[in-house]
Amino acid sequence: MALNLWLRCETKEFEHRSALTPTTAKQLIDSGRFSVTVERDPQRIFDDEEFERVGCKLVEHNSWPSAPLSSPIIGLKELPPNDTSPLPHTHIMFAHCYKQQGGWVDVISRWEAGQPTGMLYDLEFLQDEKGRRVAAFGYHAGFAGAAVGLLALAKQVSSEGEKERLGEIKPYPNEGELIKFVKGQMAVIEKQLGRKPRALVIGALGRCGRGAVDFFKAAGFEDDNIAKWDMAETAKGGPFQEILDADVFVNCIYLTSKIPSFISPESIAAAGDKRQLRVVVDVSCDTTNPNNPIPIYSINTTFDKPTVDVDGITAGPPMTVVSIDHLPTLLPREASEAFSTDLLPSLLTLPEAIAERQPRQGKPVPAADVGDGPERVWKQSEELFWRVLAQAQAEKKQ
Ligand SMILES: NC(=O)c1ccc[n+]([C@@H]2O[C@H](COP(=O)([O-])OP(=O)(O)OC[C@H]3O[C@@H](n4cnc5c(N)ncnc54)[C@H](O)[C@@H]3O)[C@@H](O)[C@H]2O)c1
Repeated sequence: MALNLWLRCETKEFEHRSALTPTTAKQLIDSGRFSVTVERDPQRIFDDEEFERVGCKLVEHNSWPSAPLSSPIIGLKELPPNDTSPLPHTHIMFAHCYKQQGGWVDVISRWEAGQPTGMLYDLEFLQDEKGRRVAAFGYHAGFAGAAVGLLALAKQVSSEGEKERLGEIKPYPNEGELIKFVKGQMAVIEKQLGRKPRALVIGALGRCGRGAVDFFKAAGFEDDNIAKWDMAETAKGGPFQEILDADVFVNCIYLTSKIPSFISPESIAAAGDKRQLRVVVDVSCDTTNPNNPIPIYSINTTFDKPTVDVDGITAGPPMTVVSIDHLPTLLPREASEAFSTDLLPSLLTLPEAIAERQPRQGKPVPAADVGDGPERVWKQSEELFWRVLAQAQAEKKQ
């Protein structure tokens, strides 16, 4: 029997992306192994009818809690906050609770309460046999992050006393429109600075970093004005003067452990009025991670208020941080297509994974049992779920 995959709506404000697109939903249905249910969602970049036309069944907005337990629920971002109800379904999503982010114990505990049927396959941790993520939004996050950084810079430098801040930004229908608009703002930046701007990207060899570098190039930066740093350049340990000498700094690293800060309130103060840096785009957004190497801000910013001022600046120009954690939604259609297409081969193995999991529902799968069958990607994710759940249980006992 076909597995019914249920595409839930996104409830996070300004989130227009979708885990499935009409293209990938059609491919799932055409495989003969899936039926696809889609919640109506006015926020999604794709019209409901686009899904209906390829054979999906449309259902009410936010109706997944009453979906059959046999239907895996696929979505992208977090579920609405302040809800502690049990989660007895299989959820495929970014739950943001595996790196001990703020509130992680409460988040994963909802699946604990949803046992024996509840399962979280976290999209950030679905990996192939070489340990590479099967699908990620990184490229478009870096691409959009660099764009927002330049828009923020243009607004700041062109206002009296650099007092004004970038206002609400809306998604662009396509990359071309975004590049065209930012190129116009580049002229403003160059005029105000009296020279061409410089950017520094850390994590430049990764997905987000490549996107950021590509955007700077598309916006007209000369290659020499884009410093591209990765592990080799940060090995000496921060804080780094080079960051303070750039106009825009984009952090794109994948943080795995405590590292010296890249920039700090002390390094900013020491630079005094010699600091060029005006905008930091923290694409990595490890805002609540205790090891965040950019400890100069404490909130995530949003598309309606994209920047937050760095406190305690007493010399040099004002400085702002962009810490939007869903940057690819600036280009929702292209970002969704790229992500969903990368996820598709793994989704096609989901029916085997669900069937295989059935007999051991509610019981952890030991790492040694992950194996290398086609459904391995899911089984490894299941093993990780149980491991993090055990950590959360230990945390609750402390
Ligand atoms: N803000 C958003 O909207 C958004 C969207 C997608 C991803 N992200 C986040 O962006 C981060 C990067 O994701 P990715 O897919 O590009 O990862 P990735 O693994 O493709 O790339 C990370 C890069 O960082 C480098 N790196 C790691 N530690 C470093 C260090 N100490 N110094 C210098 N370089 C270092 C790695 O060598 C690698 O090249 C992740 O934390 C991810 O969650 C944010």
